[in-house]
Amino acid sequence: MDGASIFITRKIPEAGLDILRAAEADVTICQEDEEQGVPRATLLDGVRNCNVLLALLTESVDREVLSTNPRLLGVANMAVGFSNIDVAAATDLGVPVTNTPGVLTHSTADLTWALILAVARRLPEAHNYMVAGRYRIWGPNLFLGADVSPGASGQRKVLGVVGYGRIGEAVAKRAIGFDMDVLAYDPFNRDGVQASPHAEWAEFEDLLRTSDFVTLHPLLTPETHHLIGAEQLRMMKPTSYLINAARGPVVDEGALVRALSEGWIAGAGLDVYEDEPHMAPGLAENPNAVLLPHIASASHDTRGMMASVAATNALAHLRRERAPNAVNPEVYEGEVYRERMRR
Ligand code: DGY
Repeated sequence: MDGASIFITRKIPEAGLDILRAAEADVTICQEDEEQGVPRATLLDGVRNCNVLLALLTESVDREVLSTNPRLLGVANMAVGFSNIDVAAATDLGVPVTNTPGVLTHSTADLTWALILAVARRLPEAHNYMVAGRYRIWGPNLFLGADVSPGASGQRKVLGVVGYGRIGEAVAKRAIGFDMDVLAYDPFNRDGVQASPHAEWAEFEDLLRTSDFVTLHPLLTPETHHLIGAEQLRMMKPTSYLINAARGPVVDEGALVRALSEGWIAGAGLDVYEDEPHMAPGLAENPNAVLLPHIASASHDTRGMMASVAATNALAHLRRERAPNAVNPEVYEGEVYRERMRR
């Protein structure tokens, strides 16, 4: 493809690479070792010498990275979230940025439910007990947890969904099978959910005070950074659970450790962390925290689709076409973009 090249920061699933090979794109995969990240200097060097950057959420694509190459035609992120990219800087500089929406909705909603059930019914603790050979005799008080469905008392539980986009709604939909009442709040749509048969609109504080399970699905932006802090955790019921499969910094993790240790809430199920891959001190020691390594979209099918969508977006950037999943589509209308395309 006329000498133009795509720099892929880390190895992506074959389905995406197949699309790039079929297009005979000139591709460099920087880091083949899946356990390693890309050093900053290597990232800068790679971006300087390519036309399109295909990045993962582990790379910080900030203004410095975006400014390093005036011939950069676009950035394709292999994730639906794009908090690792300074999109405002990209727009200023005339660089289109794309993500992979839609394809990971169901896998992420499924994993959210796995976290809800795992934390409520204490599955990791029970599993560890079994593999440690500690199960001697059945007991009426062994690993008592909370019901998600109405249970024997018939008391319907409330699921509070914070961030009511595609994933939030898919999580809400799954609650039907558990006979739950669902409340929804969206920080970017404060006037109400779009008509959804699966949830009732609520004010944020009401949702926090009422829900038995609060599950977080907003984009990470300055407005949603620490959306859940000490004040919000104290509003939640001591019997309630917090689930986060969105982005770590939506929760003040230090405050969450206190909430778990001091019994402000009953437990938390987390797939993401404020400073990944690190966890706040004390989090791992809490038996009422179920902790996963950011695997919400990690099914074979979904990761293949994410790689395919990212590759398709990358090719569109390379061909100077409007990419299907631009998160800053306004960039295409600007003179800075047109000027960049002429270089
Ligand atoms: C995303 O896509 O934003 C997830 O966090 C990783 O799949």
